[in-house]
Amino acid sequence: MTSLLCITIISLTLAGSASSQPTSYPLPPTVMVLAELGANVTLPCRLQSQDAMAFGNIGMRVKWTKVADDEALNEDVLLSMGFHKKTYGSFAERVFLNEDTNEDASLTITEVSTEDSGKYRCEIINGVEDFMEEIILDVQGGLTDGVVFPYSPSVGRYNLNFDNATQACLDQNASVATLDQLHQAWKGGLDWCNAGWLSDGTVHYPVTRRRGPCGGNKGPGLISYGNQDKQLGRFDVFCFASALKGRFYWLVQPDRLTFDEAVQACLDDGAEIAKVGHMYSAWKLEGFDRCDAGWLADGSVRYPISRPRKNCSPTDAAVRFVGFPDQMQKSYGVYCYKAE
Ligand SMILES: *[C@@H]1O[C@H](CO)[C@@H](O)[C@H](O)[C@H]1NC(C)=O
Ligand SMILES: *[C@@H]1O[C@H](CO)[C@@H](O)[C@H](O)[C@H]1NC(C)=O
Ligand SMILES: *[C@@H]1O[C@H](CO)[C@@H](O)[C@H](O)[C@H]1NC(C)=O
Repeated sequence: MTSLLCITIISLTLAGSASSQPTSYPLPPTVMVLAELGANVTLPCRLQSQDAMAFGNIGMRVKWTKVADDEALNEDVLLSMGFHKKTYGSFAERVFLNEDTNEDASLTITEVSTEDSGKYRCEIINGVEDFMEEIILDVQGGLTDGVVFPYSPSVGRYNLNFDNATQACLDQNASVATLDQLHQAWKGGLDWCNAGWLSDGTVHYPVTRRRGPCGGNKGPGLISYGNQDKQLGRFDVFCFASALKGRFYWLVQPDRLTFDEAVQACLDDGAEIAKVGHMYSAWKLEGFDRCDAGWLADGSVRYPISRPRKNCSPTDAAVRFVGFPDQMQKSYGVYCYKAE
């Protein structure tokens, strides 16, 4: 069954401006498909019947690709040649062609996650003439009022008992996430291989893509270690940060700074050095994107990427973690936060 919740919008992409080259053909319209998380969604791709006549139905080859900003990073989704069909990577066993009619090369993706969002290309090839269409899939869901993020301190992973964990989140302007918040975040695509405390004293980690050491044959899902000793158990923590009330920003300045200089630079700008929760919130809820590593209040250096691209975060929209560099020897930029 395809999702009833899925709406299809046809948006016409303007082929250049009024001054467009006389030789250019108008671009085909781009189809945008909105889907709810977890639904089965169909990306339409159909030959017009006059084209179908030209193609005939023998030897029709269909290729679906997920298109990246950098074409070198495109992902194969599905290839179909007659009876022979192959699905690839994270799409293996999860996609199929509808094939209601010979003209139909529409692709169904089952149980979409937000990571499936993006641009897809459908190519129908018969050796003589090729047909191509691009479709944009936008999967909505997960948390909308905040963001869940994993946290481990500068001393390294698996060093926090429950009290340490509570304090660690507070220090990032966040609270320890609830099981429900982690569940929502998992539905929104959060995948993390280190176990962390939740507010009820249990320890879990979210797996959206099952792989060897991470979830083994258990996932995808929330992998649970159950209740743990709050005093003696040592794990990471999942924090929850809500929407920002102030402004998170990159401080523009001529030089890179040591940590103390970075703290001072934000103060001089009438703000404070941003916390990890501020960066996650700005990234997830405001689409903040900057490919510059900057200090944060806990002494870590990170940068938020919401538009994956070469040399930044090529495959995932993510807050990238550089590390906890030497605070006196190393220099970076800084992210500040100004309360409103
Ligand atoms: C999605 O498709 C799969 C396979 O056809 C089916 O088992 C599942 O029930 C469908 N899910 C929804 C939400 O329609
Ligand atoms: C955890 O808390 C204890 C006691 O408050 C403290 O001594 C220790 O340094 C903390 N550890 C971390 C990693 O924050
Ligand atoms: C984050 O800080 C703001 C004030 O700057 C405060 O209102 C909010 O409660 C804090 N959030 C958490 C989860 O501590």
